[in-house]
Amino acid sequence: MLVVRNGRRPPRRARLVALGSHLPDRVLTNADLERIVDTNDEWIVSRTGIRERRVSADHEAASDLAAHAARQILPRGGLAPEDLDVLMVLTATADYLFPSTSSAVCGMIGATNAASFDLMAGCTGFVYGLQQACALVESGQARSVLVVGAEVLTKFTDYTDRSTCILFGDGAGGALVVAGEEETTTGFLGFDLGTEPKGSEMLRIPGGGGRMPRPAPGHQFIEMNGREVFRFATRAMVDSTTRLLAALEMDVAEIDLVVAHQANLRIIEHAAKRLGVPEDRLYNNVDRFGNTSSASIPIALAEAREIGRLHAGDLLLLVGFGAGLTWGSTVVRYEPLADGEAGAA
Ligand code: UT7
Repeated sequence: MLVVRNGRRPPRRARLVALGSHLPDRVLTNADLERIVDTNDEWIVSRTGIRERRVSADHEAASDLAAHAARQILPRGGLAPEDLDVLMVLTATADYLFPSTSSAVCGMIGATNAASFDLMAGCTGFVYGLQQACALVESGQARSVLVVGAEVLTKFTDYTDRSTCILFGDGAGGALVVAGEEETTTGFLGFDLGTEPKGSEMLRIPGGGGRMPRPAPGHQFIEMNGREVFRFATRAMVDSTTRLLAALEMDVAEIDLVVAHQANLRIIEHAAKRLGVPEDRLYNNVDRFGNTSSASIPIALAEAREIGRLHAGDLLLLVGFGAGLTWGSTVVRYEPLADGEAGAA
């Protein structure tokens, strides 16, 4: 699905005004992993770029992390919880099969007037969520949409499987999308979203759903065909971005900051090289947080903002891939409120 709005302005544009994140305190280093599985720091760093990741506490679920992030984002966007129209949680590690994780977050933060739903597009969740937020705002059906990626992947990780347990971490991150002023808002320039046919078994948690409601031991954990996902990821990120930029008649040199799904540094660097993205326009933090799935892009964005790598008015290229297999990219301008996010820019 390719959505481009060159020259066709909707009645009002959706504006990305605020970012935020929350990471659990506990750190799991490569040295820690060396003590529980047959691996080593050198292998993990050279194959993935990951040095450490965060692990949620036993009592913490995705909704808890999402609520922390939401409480940070809303004031930055100048919005009280009760004024929020839609709360969307993007997660592959929901609290329950039902109800939605987002409904729990509404209660936790006091979003008493919000519609709530979860969206599952694996690690591409954040880009899919932004597209939904943009569509809701620009169709006039919502004035504000909070999009939060929240994951507790370590609870679904098999720490006897060295090919997967080194990759995943926990965390939450998100963005607030609101209706902007027609004349001044650039907003979202376009989206490219897709699904790979026959990709649904490449990366999954097989047990606990309708196909295997009473999972045999081990089937409650993440399973992945790492090599196939790697091949898919490198191709999909380059293809999606190239297609979107071509449709927008833009050059990658016009982008201020590229943030890709933080799965593996090798995948990101390969894609960045193919696309001609210079190092100083690429923001990565996979070394410190590992793969946090749908939370990885907003966690990186929030951190980039905090350390002054993301500024008010910057044009962003966000690109992800993940379970499904899905992919997605978008070009959007970061347009914080003058007295909110911009203060830190
Ligand atoms: O959000 C999307 C989620 N998924 C991804 O992005 C994952 C995409 N895939 C990958 O990132 C990579 O495929 C991995 C990092 C998972 C694996 O890297 P690789 O370079 O594709 O390694 P490989 O699977 O080809 O394995 C190479 C060797 C094997 O040994 P032999 O058969 O060559 O003797 C593995 O057994 O490395 C071995 N190996 C390890 N060695 C030390 C696999 N995992 C480890 C480990 N420590 N943790």
